[in-house]
Amino acid sequence: MVHKIIIDTDPGQDDAIALLLAFASPELEVLGVTCVAGNTRLPAVVRNARIICELAGRRDVNVFVGCDRPMVRDLVTAEHVHGPTGLDGPVWDEPTMPVQDQHAVDWIVETLMGAEDRDITLCPIGPLTNIAMAMVREPRILPKIKQIVSMGGGGTEGGNITPVAEFNVYVDPHAADVVYRSGVPLVVMSLDVTHKALMPRAWIDGVEAIGGNVGEKTAAMLRFYERFDLVRYGEFGGPVHDPAVIAYLLQPELYAGKDVFVQIETGSELTMGMTVVDFWNATKQPPNCTWIQSVDSEGFFAMTLDRLGNLA
Ligand code: RIB
Ligand code: CA
Repeated sequence: MVHKIIIDTDPGQDDAIALLLAFASPELEVLGVTCVAGNTRLPAVVRNARIICELAGRRDVNVFVGCDRPMVRDLVTAEHVHGPTGLDGPVWDEPTMPVQDQHAVDWIVETLMGAEDRDITLCPIGPLTNIAMAMVREPRILPKIKQIVSMGGGGTEGGNITPVAEFNVYVDPHAADVVYRSGVPLVVMSLDVTHKALMPRAWIDGVEAIGGNVGEKTAAMLRFYERFDLVRYGEFGGPVHDPAVIAYLLQPELYAGKDVFVQIETGSELTMGMTVVDFWNATKQPPNCTWIQSVDSEGFFAMTLDRLGNLA
């Protein structure tokens, strides 16, 4: 079965792995890549997305420029994790592939409105600004969305940008609130699961052994990206968050979760962007998402390495 997907992204080294995994997997038809401000400012995000498309040999992919700031709050970026360019590690040639003229939000709306109901999967792996803006701009897209598989949030794991908030949701909590209240089928890859798939050093060596530009550049990205988590968590093996979204589409049996009701904190500065997960139905509210809680980590890394080898 081929999944038609739209990847909404803020590259970022882990976004890059998600993009490469998607491009390496014939089960996925990437209809387009839409860029959103997050890990770094929008111009750099768009540059980075094009770099990764070119690295994968996919100059044909339509890349769109989206929102350059959250819906309400000021933009917060994460150069402390991803480096000043947002894609530090390798020395990159500047990309030459084109960017589409149409705004990402308009293209998402137009693409969904032209599709059959429940035909397209949205894969947001950055702040949810573009997705929420599309929903607000054109509510008729909601039945057109097959499902949203999103990287964001944290329940039992807490947060990574504040004690209780994960970066993607923290950057644009209002957008997350729109998406979580939309009623669209939502699968959430939060820190609760991405922190259970920590990159083995041998895996990074295996990526490098793929050889060529893909092996060399991807390993260099990962080695740069890993250093932040070594400082943060005191051990080698950083969580590579975003490819979990793509891996779920490819091999959902790698994952297990629970249907729960989740609310987004948008009031208190102390807990801004917290995903308040009702694991035991204390609110008596119907579930609004599938909250993924476990992963076959070895299976994930083996599958991802095998697929990345397709790009060599
Ligand atoms: O918290 C991790 C998320 O924030 C990932 O998507 C990473 O790329 C950053 O955007
Ligand atoms: Ca990201």
